[in-house]
Amino acid sequence: MANVVVIGAQWGDEGKGKVTDLLSRSADVVVRYQGGVNAGHTVVVKDQTFKLHLIPSGILYPDTKCIIGSGTVIDPAVLIEELDQIEALGISTKNLLISETAHVTMPYHRLIDKASEERRGSQKIGTTGRGIGPTYADKSERTGIRVLDLIDPEALPQQLNWTINYKNVILEKLYDLPPLDPAVVIEQYQTYAERLRPHVVDSSLKIYEAIEQKRNILFEGAQGTLLDLDHGTYPYVTSSNPVAGGACIGAGVGPTMIDRVIGVAKAYTTRVGEGPFPTELEGTLGELLCARGAEFGTTTGRRRRCGWFDSVIGRYAVRINGIDCLAITKLDVLDTLEEIKVCLAYEIDGERCEHFPSSSRKFSQCLPIYKTLPGWQQSTSECRSLEDLPTKALDYLKFLAELMAVPIALVSLGASRDQTIIVEDPIHGPKRALLDTNNVPLSS
Ligand code: GDP
Ligand code: IMO
Ligand code: MG
Repeated sequence: MANVVVIGAQWGDEGKGKVTDLLSRSADVVVRYQGGVNAGHTVVVKDQTFKLHLIPSGILYPDTKCIIGSGTVIDPAVLIEELDQIEALGISTKNLLISETAHVTMPYHRLIDKASEERRGSQKIGTTGRGIGPTYADKSERTGIRVLDLIDPEALPQQLNWTINYKNVILEKLYDLPPLDPAVVIEQYQTYAERLRPHVVDSSLKIYEAIEQKRNILFEGAQGTLLDLDHGTYPYVTSSNPVAGGACIGAGVGPTMIDRVIGVAKAYTTRVGEGPFPTELEGTLGELLCARGAEFGTTTGRRRRCGWFDSVIGRYAVRINGIDCLAITKLDVLDTLEEIKVCLAYEIDGERCEHFPSSSRKFSQCLPIYKTLPGWQQSTSECRSLEDLPTKALDYLKFLAELMAVPIALVSLGASRDQTIIVEDPIHGPKRALLDTNNVPLSS
């Protein structure tokens, strides 16, 4: 039995969907603990591609329970669309459970998200426009609508009448937008409630019961460490806590219940939306990574910014999440390169800096200090073991593991399930080599 958190170690889109799907084979329960439909997790099974926004990436296994936890924000329209799509493929969603205390994204959240981004102009965050920030803001402000309110036929009209009248003032006076008709929204959301009601549960209780029964629980992070509200590149972050600690709050489990943390990182770096990105490549190399990695957002279709692997943020992610082992994805994207750079540290105002600076202004001034490694210029997408890899590709992975002082348990070389090298069992295998940081092999 092991309870494992899978998190993104960069700015999201690291391949958490693929890794979660793979690890779900040995999980009894998969839990999403934060974020909403801003997430887009891709799972490729044979010739089918699933793009999941809220439903955990364990849904493709018939006996795995999937839970959308309390710390998430739920857009019912998108969730229902997702349920319909999955069911249309003949996959049952009877094992999907939804937390009664998750917050609900309302039409005014989406409108305010988009309008506030427009108002920010050059200061915009580059959000997904899915109403995530405004939903979490209402949660903190204590004007949010929770799933248990959504499915309560008496509470919903009462709460929404009050809230929509309040939000209409903001829509009209602040953003010059037409007001919403409470009756229309109430009717629409009551229809959603009927569809979702059979799935709604006390999710932290369900998770606790599974833990008591010694089941394997996998907590699937959305977004990534550098998008964390508290620990990321604020204000260019999302409004939740994707870091491993967020799993405890968002799923409602105690820290003592978590056995290990797996960090997912690309063999290079990408970021969508605004905000500093020291190793970003703006020229033809950036274009090449984007083209080879098909780096376009799963949710919004936006082009992802691409750059070299940054071990400063990698080490930061190891520290903030307590990462035990890494899953390195998209190694195949680097296959054609003659040379590959890795950022070792930054230079700020002429001084070497080994640590991620908290200030985004300072971070935007960081100049990467690189080490250049030779490329392998050979296809890796058919490799199925470390022995199959070109020596230079293996050296590259060893170098990353050493820089981050964490073993690599899994290497991904393509979007499909079989395009994977399991170096060591990520769930029961290598743990963080805390004591011997001078000699961290690919696996311990
Ligand atoms: P997530 O949000 O972390 O789940 O990642 P996304 O699904 O948004 O983006 C990752 C993209 O890379 C998806 O299109 C995956 O199918 C794809 N992918 C995952 N692993 C690999 C890999 O090892 N190589 C390649 N070429 N593509 C991959
Ligand atoms: P997955 O789970 C990559 C980014 C947005 C924007 C910032 C804030 O697929 O890795 P938001 O809509 O959350 O208020 O936007 O966060 N962002 C993501 N970037 N992957 C994601 O999810 C993201 N979810 C949000 O682009 O910069
Ligand atoms: Mg994604």
